[in-house]
Amino acid sequence: MRTIVSPSLLSADFGNLAKDIDMLNRSEADWLHIDIMDGVFVPNISFGFPVLKHIARLAKKPLDVHLMIVQPEKFLREVQEVGTLIMNVHYEACPHLHRVVQQIRDAGMKPAVTLNPATPVFLLKDILSELDMVLLMSVNPGFGGQKFIAHTTQKVKELRRLIDETGSHALIEVDGGVNLDTGKQLRAAGADALVAGNAVFSNENPEAYIQALKNL
Ligand code: DX5
Ligand code: ZN
Repeated sequence: MRTIVSPSLLSADFGNLAKDIDMLNRSEADWLHIDIMDGVFVPNISFGFPVLKHIARLAKKPLDVHLMIVQPEKFLREVQEVGTLIMNVHYEACPHLHRVVQQIRDAGMKPAVTLNPATPVFLLKDILSELDMVLLMSVNPGFGGQKFIAHTTQKVKELRRLIDETGSHALIEVDGGVNLDTGKQLRAAGADALVAGNAVFSNENPEAYIQALKNL
């Protein structure tokens, strides 16, 4: 399978989102990765649901929504009503994770659980069979353009083993500091999907960069 590429809009030009979304629509990107932050779960605020609505209206690719917020289940309706494909919630933000995962599925979306860099993958063992994807953070969430945490490739390998053992069909996605170099290592370790913000948008030819990521 070719790499699933989910460019992160966090590094797009917020003054002209339509232009950058147009570029992503033309590109080989599979999904659009949307980072929503609340200033509580992470030390930053990005944008909220009114902006998500406009992004969804312009996007021709499925939305991969990454909620870096406490109590993400409170906003299930807002995420669902824009036609989101994948709703990512953080393990660290959900004491009743099983219930939230069921609610996401009942709302017609694919449930995905995100792990911070310090959260070990074995904690997902009892929920893996219910998930469509696991998103491993390879930076501490909250900001684009940070340095890739090298230990993540080890976590990808461990998660691959756990997925195979439990018979889960969950995809493995990685987010943070992904570029052609780190992306190649992640693919070799067993990652299916790559999120990339800064590497895509700082490139002079973002469409070609997305194509290169697809070919990893
Ligand atoms: C960080 C976000 C990421 C971010 C990745 O908290 O979850 O999706 O946009 O950006 P880069 O690829 O620049 O590390
Ligand atoms: Zn993200």
